[in-house]
Amino acid sequence: MIFRCKDPAENDSQGCFFMECFYFRTDPENSSALQQESIYDSQIRICTNTTRRECISVFYRMLREYTKFICDRTFFMRMEEAVMKKKIIFAALALSLACSGMLVQAAQLPEPGENGIITAESWREMYPEIVASFDANNDNNYRISYIEEDPYITNLYEGYGFAIDYTSAVGHTYCLEDVYNTERPHALANCLTCKTPDFTKMVNDIGEEVYSYDFQETYGSMVESVGCYSCHENKVPEENNLSVTHSYITMALGEEYDGIAPEILACGQCHIEYYFDPETKATRMPHSDIATMGPEATLAYFDEMDFADWTQESTGTRMLKAQHPEMETYLSGSFHAKMGLTCADCHMGESTSEAGVTYVNHYWRSPLENADLLETCAQCHKDTDMKEKVQAIQDEITARESEVGHALSDLKDGLAEAVAAGSYTDDQLDEIRKIYRSAQWYWDYCYVENSEGAHNSAFARECLDKSEELIGEGVAKLEALEA
Ligand code: HEC
Ligand code: HEC
Ligand code: HEC
Ligand code: HEC
Repeated sequence: MIFRCKDPAENDSQGCFFMECFYFRTDPENSSALQQESIYDSQIRICTNTTRRECISVFYRMLREYTKFICDRTFFMRMEEAVMKKKIIFAALALSLACSGMLVQAAQLPEPGENGIITAESWREMYPEIVASFDANNDNNYRISYIEEDPYITNLYEGYGFAIDYTSAVGHTYCLEDVYNTERPHALANCLTCKTPDFTKMVNDIGEEVYSYDFQETYGSMVESVGCYSCHENKVPEENNLSVTHSYITMALGEEYDGIAPEILACGQCHIEYYFDPETKATRMPHSDIATMGPEATLAYFDEMDFADWTQESTGTRMLKAQHPEMETYLSGSFHAKMGLTCADCHMGESTSEAGVTYVNHYWRSPLENADLLETCAQCHKDTDMKEKVQAIQDEITARESEVGHALSDLKDGLAEAVAAGSYTDDQLDEIRKIYRSAQWYWDYCYVENSEGAHNSAFARECLDKSEELIGEGVAKLEALEA
């Protein structure tokens, strides 16, 4: 049973907020279907002196605590209404206390470094356990070369950097050096967008023109890889909790922003599909709310503006490259998102140091490699072996990615031959190019998502099904040409 925060209604005249709670339960006939029920008398009125944004973030934090508590005891069972009411009142009370606590004056901040950000190192004295867990990201440096694993992708990415150099992701502390070392071309500073808070601060201080600065020159002054500033700014994290520092997110989402949990947005700043504005070179998101986040709406958006990441020489197709759409995949109807779980619930969690101090773990990796996180899963997945469950999905999805990817590669070869033959009109070829562009987009959207289906297997299957359908259409058109 889970609380979820509905979009809070507008403040009332006294500056109070309303939240509504739902709970989910599984349908006994069909264990994978979730039903949503509103809790009787579940409107919570919260009166505090603080901003709406701060309240929401505190609210989400509390939900996490309650989720744990409720899951422990009676997950999937209807609680007695009276008990539920009591909890809600208690939650609201605790929330007002937490919110007013935020008005207490800020603690002493460490000094910012040369680029104006407070580095992880400077926070060490205040948060030794958290910074030690952050340092542990250095251990996450095992890379797989996708090019060696799936050689067919060099054909699909022909003429683009990912055909030369494409490896699996590693820990956050490597982002900065990785972007320097990649053999993919990187002329402009916009490549630093998701790698270092030093660059984020530059964008925030100077403005969007920095996206088009020279890469080498800008890189030279960068110091910190993804760091505390990325998610907390230069504020005391305990008091201000989370910040979204990447301005393109706030710009794109506008009002919708408040409807997504901060512990999802903090990650979604970078774990999303993005593009560079062809004129200004600024980083942009191709969507403006959850409804337009999927591959279909995004493709329509790119088609509308006639956007291409590159033009593929052999087929003459204006191609798109999807990049790590973790947030979109997660928010597009996954079981866990519906239940109100956030990225941080599965990738961070709480740990206890040897000295007995409990802290929020900042070692970002697979939840399957973290005993504390596996315990979180076990609150709901009682007798399930999580490694097996995840592996089964990933095996299925990667096998299909490969199957569809090979079919796509054949379509591409057929199109390249038709172009080389020189006997067809541009109109005839353009029709097939459009199909190929779309088919590869849907396949890529699944291929480059880092969970390999674990975040939302139904969504992954849909992307691959759509790609396969388009490949079929493309092949039929090619055959019709030749006939
Ligand atoms: C400022 C950008 C940024 C933010 C914010 C960010 N990430 Fe990342 N993350 C990256 C990049 C870039 C990589 C890939 C690093 C590489 O391979 O060099 C990465 C890698 C990872 C990995 C490692 C993947 C692997 O295969 O080992 C995990 C897990 C991860 N991020 C989870 C998260 C979570 C959870 C959040 C939110 C709490 C988050 N990230 C926020 C940029 C970011
Ligand atoms: C990729 C995003 C990200 C980065 C980078 C990051 N944090 Fe966090 N931090 C989080 C999230 C998410 C939480 C959990 C917030 C919650 O409980 O709702 C958190 C929680 C915290 C908390 C606890 C707040 C509380 O609930 O009392 C502290 C303190 C903190 N972070 C300090 C740091 C420090 C110091 C660094 C740099 C070494 C850092 N964080 C880097 C995302 C991040
Ligand atoms: C219900 C738990 C859950 C939630 C919520 C969740 N993830 Fe994951 N995530 C997983 C699992 C399971 C994997 C697969 C891990 C593996 O392959 O070992 C994964 C994999 C990843 C990876 C690749 C890590 C690796 O080691 O290869 C990244 C990056 C990632 N998630 C980011 C995110 C982001 C960003 C969000 C929020 C938008 C999020 N996750 C939400 C469970 C979750
Ligand atoms: C609040 C309850 C809850 C928590 C916590 C939770 N899950 Fe789930 N999870 C569910 C439900 C309900 C489903 C849907 C039914 C099913 O597949 O078991 C689900 C489905 C899944 C799926 C299948 C997803 C898909 O799209 O096919 C995976 C994988 C998964 N969970 C992994 C995890 C992992 C790993 C963790 C811990 C890091 C975790 N879950 C934590 C409730 C939870």
